[in-house]
This record gives sequence, C-alpha cells and structure tokens, in this order.
Amino acid sequence: MPNSSPFLGKRVVLGVGGGIAAYKSVELMRRLVDAGAFVSPVLTAASLKFVGATTFSALGSERARISLFDDDDPIPHTSLGKQADAIIVAPATADLIARYAAGLADDLLTTTLIATRAPVVIVAAMHTEMWQHPSVVDNIATLRRRGVVVIEPEVGRLAGGDTGVGRLASTERVLAAVEGLFLEGRGLLLGKKVLVTAGGTRESIDPVRYIGNRSSGKQGIAFATAAARFGADVTLVCTIAPPDEPGIDVVEVESAQQMFDAVSTRVADGFDLVVMAAAVADFRCKDVSPIKIKKSQGAPQVVLEPTPDILAYLGSVKPKNQILIGFAAETGELESEARRKLKEKKADFVVANNVLEHDAGFAVDTNRVTLVYDDSVLAFELDDKRHIAIKVLSFVAEWARINGVWPK
Ligand code: PMT
Repeated sequence: MPNSSPFLGKRVVLGVGGGIAAYKSVELMRRLVDAGAFVSPVLTAASLKFVGATTFSALGSERARISLFDDDDPIPHTSLGKQADAIIVAPATADLIARYAAGLADDLLTTTLIATRAPVVIVAAMHTEMWQHPSVVDNIATLRRRGVVVIEPEVGRLAGGDTGVGRLASTERVLAAVEGLFLEGRGLLLGKKVLVTAGGTRESIDPVRYIGNRSSGKQGIAFATAAARFGADVTLVCTIAPPDEPGIDVVEVESAQQMFDAVSTRVADGFDLVVMAAAVADFRCKDVSPIKIKKSQGAPQVVLEPTPDILAYLGSVKPKNQILIGFAAETGELESEARRKLKEKKADFVVANNVLEHDAGFAVDTNRVTLVYDDSVLAFELDDKRHIAIKVLSFVAEWARINGVWPK
C-alpha cells in the first residue's frame, strides 16, 4: 500500500442494499481495506437475501452490522455516522434511494445516512425501467441537490438476462470518486478555469495511415481529473477516450492542427491555468493523399512540414494572471532541455520526464518528473501519474498565490 494513499486511516461506512449487485460490494470493501481505509460494513435486511454478513465481517475492518439495536453499542446510528469520513452505499436500490431522499430512518443504514455529516456516495444499480422511472429520477435529483455524490449505473448485462443501463459502476469508478473526496486540498482550484491537453496527435499520411507517437494520455488525463477534483472548471482537449469525471468539458481532436485550433479559439476564455501534457507531433505530411496509397506503387516519399507549436503560441499570448505549464519528453539531458523549452516557449513551468525509463513517460501508470521553473528545479520521486498530477498542481497553485499571479 503506497504511503501516499488518500484512503490511509480513513473511516468508511460501506452500506449494502438489497440488490443482486450486493456481491460486488465485497470486492469494493476488500479494495478499500487494501488501500488503507477502515471499513465498517452495514447491511440492510434485504441485502442478506443476496450476501452473507459473515463474508463482510471476515473481510471488513470490523464486524458487519445489520441492526439498529446493537448489544455493544447502544447508539450505532450516530456513532457510525459521526466517526465516518465517508459513507458509500453500493448497491443503492430504488427503494433505498427513495427512503434516503424522503428522510426515512427505519433501519441502521438509513439512520446512519441521516445522522452523518460526512460526504455520501450513492452507487445506483437496478433495472433500466426502474432507473428511468420519474420517481427515481426525482429522488436522484433531490440527493444531488443536497450534495450527495451519485455514481450512475453502467450499461451492460442485468439480472434475468436483460441488457441495458442499470449495472453497478466498476469498483475503479467508485474508488476514484471516493478518492476525490479524500483529496487533501479539495477546493484548491475552486473557481479556477483550467485547460489541459492530453494524448498523442495523429498526422495523416492517407485515409488509412498516420504518423503518431506512444502517448496514452494517462498523464494528461490525470491532470484534468485532479484539477476537476480540486474544484476547477476543466476543459480537456484530447486525442484519446476522455475520463468519466464530472466537471470536465471534453473537446476531442486528432491532429496537431486540430489541437491548435481547439486551443487557440478558446484562449480568450480566461484560463487561469493551462497544462500542455499532450504529445504534439512536431511534423506532419506536406501532402496528405486523399486515397489509400497502394503498396504496388512502391514506398512513398513522404515530405514533412512543421506543425504549429501550441505551447509557444500560448506563451506568446499569455495573460498576466495565467500559469502556463509545458512538458518536456526527453531521452537525454533532462534539465537543460526543459530549461531551454521553458525560455523559448515562455512557459512558467516545464514538467520534464525521461521517456526512456521503463517506469516513466509514455503509456505506463507511473512517472518520475522534474519541475523546472524560474531558476529552480524540483524533482519528484517515482509515483502514480495521478499522484504526480496532484503534487504538481498543489505546488503550482501555492506558487501562483505566493507570487501574486493569483489573488490569495
Ligand atoms: O500520455 P502518457 O502515455 O501518459 O505519457 C505522458 C507523456 C510522456 C506524453 C507526458 O508526460 C509528456 O511528456 N508530454 C509532452 C510530450 C511532448 O510533446 O514533449 P516535447 O518535449 O516534444 O514538447 C514540449 C512541449 O511543447 C510539450 O508541452 C508539448 O505539448 C508542446 N508542443 C510540442 C510540439 C508542438 N507542435 N506543439 C506543442 O505545444
């Protein structure tokens, strides 16, 4: 378990509703415990028709509770809710959602939900017809209005052989949402507008082939997600599938020119922070063939021309109160190349990574970055790309406030 796990030492109440997806919350509980959380399982009477309390007692941090009237603890509904850092309800059935929205408190889980001040995450799962019923739609809207985080069901196979929207969201999605709640510095970018680019551009040779690079978009998406969870209003210009994250407005592009167009038409939107994590092609084909080049014609002579440099453009039009972060993907001298790019492209920070390392740079989940700015250098240890994004954004936001770029 990494020391930097945001779940470390957090007290989580895992409420389990009476739906077939209840068996999946066993895995959710195990993952939360593995990540360092102290998990108290609370099962509804209906959930016991699908799963056993013994399983949750064995895998949770303490025994599963099913009753309001507990022998050891005379008031479990308030003690559980008071101590919790978060409450997750998975699966949340139509009935449970209705009772929570109506403020009913007739069992341990609903009573705990009403008694707590901790953030609540509802992971809905039910049949499509139920999920789309106006009463459920209204109840979900009510809970959202009260600040409850609702994780909507996914499309897939449902009980009884049906297919449609209704499946419990993946454990990864739930963990990501809860992680967002535990993020230190929530609100760090509240009210800020952030533009992030992510992924590698593709430059067409013909309708079939392109020149590309190895960027998966993971590092850029990590920045967009972290910024959104820090409270920013995020625009993500990307060449890859966007994240399923609230607060991110996605613009999908393919080539360097399209990325330039998407960014340059939005520069007037008043971004407080721009993060150029995309791997933008430096060159594109001068003449793109409108039809597939035939192999029988022999190897084609591809003539290249430079693409617009988006970061340099952003540096040339940068307003006073904007922070511009560029990246440097290097295979040799890291710091001096990053510093050259910092100066030439008029960025405030350059995040440099050595893309030859097996655990850093392109496509892997981890990165080892060096932040180059002013006359200073700050090296971050190897970490998950999501944590790298959190650390860099925290540092940059602090720097922007101390240096008066952003008001304190
Ligand atoms: O996407 P992942 O698989 O997670 O990998 C992450 C990453 C390695 C792609 C990322 O960490 C990274 O280094 N991104 C920048 C890649 C790159 O294009 O580096 P560069 O040194 O070639 O470019 C320097 C800077 O200029 C970059 O901010 C780049 O976005 C920008 N640039 C480059 C060319 C161009 N025509 N326009 C630009 O804006």
